[in-house]
Amino acid sequence: MRRTFIGSSLLLTSTILLLAVTCSFSCAAEPTKFGEYSADDFTYESTCRQCHAVIYGDWEGTMHFNAYLDPFYLEEVKVASHDTDGLVDEFCSRCHTPIGVVSGEIPPVDGSGMSDISKLGVQCDFCHVVSGSDGIGNAPFTVTPGNVKWGPYGDATPSYHETDYLELYTQAEYCGMCHEVIHPVNGLVIDDTYSTWKDSQYGRDNVVCQDCHMTEGITEFKANPGRAGTGGPKRDHISSHEIVGANAFIPEIMGAQDVAQKAIERLQNAATLQVSSPQTAAQGTELTIRASITNSGAGHNIPTGVSEIRQVWLEVKVTDNEGKEIYHAGALDTEGNIGSAKIIYNTVLGDSEGNATESFWLADRVLEDNRIGPEETVNEEHTFILPEDVVYPLKVQTMLNYRSAPQQLIDKLFGHGTYEVPVIRMNEVSGTIYHPDTPPEERTETTSTAPTTPGFGVFITAMVMAMMMYIFKRN
Ligand code: HEC
Ligand code: HEC
Ligand code: HEC
Ligand code: HEC
Ligand code: HEC
Repeated sequence: MRRTFIGSSLLLTSTILLLAVTCSFSCAAEPTKFGEYSADDFTYESTCRQCHAVIYGDWEGTMHFNAYLDPFYLEEVKVASHDTDGLVDEFCSRCHTPIGVVSGEIPPVDGSGMSDISKLGVQCDFCHVVSGSDGIGNAPFTVTPGNVKWGPYGDATPSYHETDYLELYTQAEYCGMCHEVIHPVNGLVIDDTYSTWKDSQYGRDNVVCQDCHMTEGITEFKANPGRAGTGGPKRDHISSHEIVGANAFIPEIMGAQDVAQKAIERLQNAATLQVSSPQTAAQGTELTIRASITNSGAGHNIPTGVSEIRQVWLEVKVTDNEGKEIYHAGALDTEGNIGSAKIIYNTVLGDSEGNATESFWLADRVLEDNRIGPEETVNEEHTFILPEDVVYPLKVQTMLNYRSAPQQLIDKLFGHGTYEVPVIRMNEVSGTIYHPDTPPEERTETTSTAPTTPGFGVFITAMVMAMMMYIFKRN
């Protein structure tokens, strides 16, 4: 746990306090209305950069930087606006270009009425003029643009601008303003990142979003000492503003390789994979490969956010010694679709007629929810008959994959062949299967890098998690 100064006694009462604290500033806060300010009331990021160069460098190229310019968003919001006769214009824009909304420059959503500053998405002089919040979801922020910058310190005394302390900045409720999306008409919860976190062990232990997303750690708080601004004092920890999730697709398109790389690294630390397959199997017999996936590192579901668009799936590939494919589930077909995965770990939303839709603005129900909850383990079994003509030994590869969007959807929006959505390997386990007559001393390769009894593997993962939580609490 990061906030050592809070102390452990407060941890026990954190839930009660959290509610009280949240209420003390937020229940009274009136969300800033459409057109209440002008874009000129906000300061360009280039000014902040002069003294906050490191923080600027962190933020540049992230999905907050790209929240409006994201081509995927721009295409989808056009479709959403068209589907609803413009009803959702202000709704979508309040999170994707908050300055565009409070300055009344949106609608139209095509950006024709927007000043340059509104196009900078979720930026410095939006986030740090948030002076209150009315709760969780659908961006109920209050902003007070001007010379005061709100933040997590209580003792900063820069000469250039004034500062004010607001505890909200150190709490998950700050992120929960936008990382919880509720359908404005029918109340369907579309993005439940905050509420899933709140109901998890992370929420109960107050391991906040900032601990994993604004520090050097990926799955827990890790301090990042330095100076927050030119002329400022040296501090034990300054927040990293490289607030990265799982999106490597858009940062890569926008030329932010470093952000894409961080997203991949994050995905590769999010889940563990255990696989068990038999050491030997004869031709013509039935073979079963068992895999279990544990969400060991994310404080919310995998995937979260727009999880009706994200895709997480297991690819299981068995080849013989001559490279001939014997079994292949979860492979991409020539169109880039996931043909034969056992299961895709995401959500399927339905429209008012009960038909599946990726257009969440048209959704009014959840048809399926296959996401992997925080600390949850899910199991998959793959069974097939081994052909007679295989050449031993056999190679078993099990891969956990992540993709930001179905290829089909991107092709529909941008045209076939414009962008290939990258498939990111979150984890991989491989093993070997021998002919039953192969003497044990000739089985040169280990059958599996994971324990052969999945139950045992899961048990170990659970033990490690329990120990981690224990250490978290002790610190
Ligand atoms: C002329 C230099 C300068 C400029 C320009 C500047 N800042 Fe600062 N800012 C500082 C210094 C110095 C600190 C204090 C750092 C510390 O105490 O560790 C600071 C502190 C802050 C804090 C922390 C406040 C707190 O109490 O937690 C925030 C937030 C902040 N600045 C935001 C901004 C934003 C947003 C901009 C652009 C609109 C900006 N700053 C422009 C120098 C500057
Ligand atoms: C224990 C560490 C941890 C905590 C706490 C945590 N996250 Fe994450 N987050 C991760 C990891 C690891 C990933 C990458 C795996 C994934 O996509 O879920 C991630 C991914 C994400 C993504 C991208 C999700 C996707 O699949 O597209 C978003 C958005 C996000 N986090 C927001 C939040 C918010 C908001 C909070 C607080 C309510 C939060 N996170 C709390 C570790 C954490
Ligand atoms: C998504 C909203 C968001 C954006 C965008 C953002 N910040 Fe922050 N910033 C925060 C939060 C939240 C904290 C406090 C994190 C904590 O204490 O855990 C913070 C902390 C700070 C601090 C205090 C020092 C520190 O490191 O804790 C400074 C200074 C700062 N931000 C400046 C900036 C500047 C400059 C930019 C633009 C380049 C920027 N911020 C963009 C949300 C944001
Ligand atoms: C004003 C609304 C707003 C606030 C406040 C906000 N975010 Fe975001 N955030 C967004 C939007 C919008 C996007 C996605 C932009 C896109 O994908 O086009 C995003 C993207 C992200 C991503 C990248 C997701 C991915 O798929 O890679 C992460 C991680 C994230 N936010 C975490 C946080 C955390 C942590 C906080 C609190 C410190 C926070 N956000 C506060 C609006 C917000
Ligand atoms: C309450 C805040 C909020 C509202 C309202 C909102 N979004 Fe988002 N949107 C987000 C956040 C946060 C993310 C990032 C989630 C993640 O990456 O997991 C996101 C991500 C997206 C993405 C995925 C972008 C990518 O690069 O993968 C699209 C597309 C999108 N939003 C479109 C829309 C449209 C269209 C609307 C209106 C119908 C809308 N959003 C309304 C907060 C919001």
